[in-house]
Amino acid sequence: MDIYKYKDYEDMSKAAAAFVIREIIKKPNLILGLATGTTPIGLYKYLIKAYDDYIISFKEVKTFNLDEYVGLPRSHPESYYSFMHRYLFDHIDILPKNINIPSNDPENMERLATEYNAKMFGNQRDLQILGIGQNGHIGFNEPGSRMGNMTFIVKLDEQTRLDNSRFFKSIDEVPKYAITMGIKNIMFSKQILLVASGKNKAEAIYKMAYGDVSDDVPASVLQLHPHVTVMVDEEAASLLNMTGNHLTF
Ligand code: PGA
Repeated sequence: MDIYKYKDYEDMSKAAAAFVIREIIKKPNLILGLATGTTPIGLYKYLIKAYDDYIISFKEVKTFNLDEYVGLPRSHPESYYSFMHRYLFDHIDILPKNINIPSNDPENMERLATEYNAKMFGNQRDLQILGIGQNGHIGFNEPGSRMGNMTFIVKLDEQTRLDNSRFFKSIDEVPKYAITMGIKNIMFSKQILLVASGKNKAEAIYKMAYGDVSDDVPASVLQLHPHVTVMVDEEAASLLNMTGNHLTF
């Protein structure tokens, strides 16, 4: 695992975008795993800028999103389908047929999870972007989720619903269930880039890097992946005791 520390959110987002841009330049038909949440918004902003500046095109890029709420219509502003269009897809030249976001019809969830898995098996991701929850979740793999899980339906942790209630009128409106790639799907990506910002992520980042590998902190499993890059701002890195700006182990 390589951990890079940046002064603030903006610098971290620029560096994370540069990482993704390099991968797209090397492989224009990159298969890219995407994350939602507040953290990657800056990274997406700089990807859009690189597209506007004719540095990269997404014409051949294929994307797979990590997760989606169950039961929110895609048209709901807080669905991850809406999020991705608002912050990335509506501003680049990606082809709609190359966008994959888990479908979330509550009637057919088990079948939809199986179908999403099957699609990913034929499309090994070259790079998976991840955020991290305060509780150490990756995607919606909440503490206690089994490491061997493939795409599945998860009951959201109360901490996650509380964290995400800032986007809804009240916590009662936050969906209770989601469909998410499992840890096994995430680990199957050739490379992983995790971004985290802010003091409220410092403990999760510490446990991810130094804690026991345990399903109590799902992100700790990343210690076992051969190609993980973590980009954090100073606040998120504050418990790592980094003397320089780079740690590798
Ligand atoms: P955040 O969410 O970027 O909004 O903090 C990250 C996550 O829950 O994975």
